[in-house]
Amino acid sequence: MELQRHSVAILCVLSCFLTLGMSYPDPRQREEFIKMEASMRIGGNVSLSPEEQQLDAHLSKLMLEEMAREDFLPALHFFKARPLIRSSPIYGLLQKMPKGAALHVHDFAMVDVEWLVRNVTYRPHCYICYTDDRSVRFYFSSGLPKPLSNCSTWTLLEQLRAKTVNVTDLDDSLMSYMTLWTLEDPELAYPSLTVVWKRFEQAFKATWGLVTYAPVFKDYFHEGLLQFYRDNILYVEVRALLPETYELDGSTHDTEWTMKTYQDTARQFVEENPDFFGARVIFTVNREIYPALLTKEVQKAMKLQVDFPETMAGFDLVGQEDTGRPLWEYKEALSLPAAQGSNLSYFFHAGETDLQGTKSDQNMLDALLFNTSRIGHGFALLRHPVAKMLSKMNAVPLEVCPISNQVLKLVKDLRNHPAAALMSEGHPLVISSDDPSMFGASGLSDDFYEAFVGFGGLSNHLGTLKELAMNSIRYSSLPPNLQEKAMALWQRKWNKFVTENL
Ligand SMILES: *[C@@H]1O[C@H](CO)[C@@H](O)[C@H](O)[C@H]1NC(C)=O
Ligand SMILES: *[C@@H]1O[C@H](CO)[C@@H](O)[C@H](O)[C@H]1NC(C)=O
Ligand SMILES: *[C@@H]1O[C@H](CO)[C@@H](O)[C@H](O)[C@H]1NC(C)=O
Ligand SMILES: *[C@@H]1O[C@H](CO)[C@@H](O)[C@H](O)[C@H]1NC(C)=O
Ligand SMILES: *[C@@H]1O[C@H](CO)[C@@H](O)[C@H](O)[C@H]1NC(C)=O
Ligand SMILES: *[C@@H]1O[C@H](CO)[C@@H](O)[C@H](O)[C@H]1NC(C)=O
Ligand SMILES: [Zn+2]
Repeated sequence: MELQRHSVAILCVLSCFLTLGMSYPDPRQREEFIKMEASMRIGGNVSLSPEEQQLDAHLSKLMLEEMAREDFLPALHFFKARPLIRSSPIYGLLQKMPKGAALHVHDFAMVDVEWLVRNVTYRPHCYICYTDDRSVRFYFSSGLPKPLSNCSTWTLLEQLRAKTVNVTDLDDSLMSYMTLWTLEDPELAYPSLTVVWKRFEQAFKATWGLVTYAPVFKDYFHEGLLQFYRDNILYVEVRALLPETYELDGSTHDTEWTMKTYQDTARQFVEENPDFFGARVIFTVNREIYPALLTKEVQKAMKLQVDFPETMAGFDLVGQEDTGRPLWEYKEALSLPAAQGSNLSYFFHAGETDLQGTKSDQNMLDALLFNTSRIGHGFALLRHPVAKMLSKMNAVPLEVCPISNQVLKLVKDLRNHPAAALMSEGHPLVISSDDPSMFGASGLSDDFYEAFVGFGGLSNHLGTLKELAMNSIRYSSLPPNLQEKAMALWQRKWNKFVTENL
């Protein structure tokens, strides 16, 4: 709608100039158009204080230098670009910047895999087996665990380490099973989308036995919050499978325990770090599940919403969209909450695809029909004008995860990411990191670098960053009164950041 108004204005202005016979092209008109485009961008209308303007001037100098590099970093694969990004002055600033909230991160891809290996696998009673398809599985147990099919016999890691000549090499190899990050040429290591998704799922399975061990489960989430907090993020919404967790004797805990553990851990973390705002959980189910079975999961979600109103944010389906079931196949189960007057909100992954016209390509429109509160990725949005219009009109933001989209092979050069266009027209969106441990990325700083430099270059400025950070709070699942508090906390951090970096 807005765009149409703009076009009418542009047409009128052009014809007026032509009929009046004024100089053409008119430099003042040129200025007007340039201003008009600048104001449409994300952050285009943000007014900056004198201090902010000073920092902005510094930032634009850094951006000029960044744009003058021969190796434009967002054009490179993140695995090659990371060391260069990390040494860029813009990255240094982004890391210190209060980025607001991380709204799209998955439960078991929050923490650097180095912590899993150096901390978790050194705990006693940790067993390992090697699978036939060159992965590993872990399990904590007081006695020898039951054999797994397609896996070697279980070995106590402590004993394996005692027999190993070079333990550093062993630990490095363990890490490599749990992440896609590699020093090899990523194009050779992951030649196709199918290969990279297979490796991605393998890495999750390798991590599984470590993170679902109850004592580790708590520590993992605590460590995850800590790593995000250190990256200057004040609030996290975690997509969580809420799996059964287990103890050394093989006994297990149910979903309620898992949810309560998230709640308790988040509260404890806020107690330890009062300038952190907290965390909420979006319950997720894999989109391979049979439609008839989803009903039970949605009912479970509605119950969690009632039992944990403070922590439960909503529901989502996860897994590779192209090979999973489309949302529409689940319409019966997904219609239940509205029919039953439940407060359950949806945060659907949708449009994480390059395959136009397929069933998965339909997911964004269906997510909007189900009143999704946000769209996870929405990578295909530019190819769906109606979905794009609805998303803008109803302020349903996209959760844009640049590094994830690049590593999972939807786009190579991040300047060609659809969010570059969406940012330039002020489409509602937030920046997130999806699975930072899988990609060797930090909390949000690496993704902010890619978005800030790659999606707009010199058109971006401090106002862009400010609005992106504010969007992450504005579009969070927090109720209005808590959003206001979170925004006030963020504003205090922001002001401090600005004065400290002049
Ligand atoms: C900024 O304001 C102009 C004029 O009111 C509006 O057309 C534009 O959409 C706004 N931009 C953003 C990013 O909100
Ligand atoms: C074990 O591997 C075989 C051959 O790859 C496969 O058919 C079978 O499903 C696997 N079993 C399990 C339990 O994963
Ligand atoms: C282990 O191997 C690495 C190279 O992979 C080497 O740098 C390191 O010195 C070795 N450590 C020992 C104790 O041999
Ligand atoms: C592992 O992490 C826990 C907390 O998450 C900490 O208490 C413990 O000291 C760490 N252990 C090692 C060996 O780093
Ligand atoms: C939905 O949320 C509102 C506001 O928090 C609450 O008053 C109401 O009881 C909730 N409804 C259900 C069905 O849980
Ligand atoms: C979506 O919201 C509309 C308007 O509030 C409502 O009529 C409809 O029932 C909702 N649909 C679902 C599936 O929740
Ligand atoms: Zn995701």
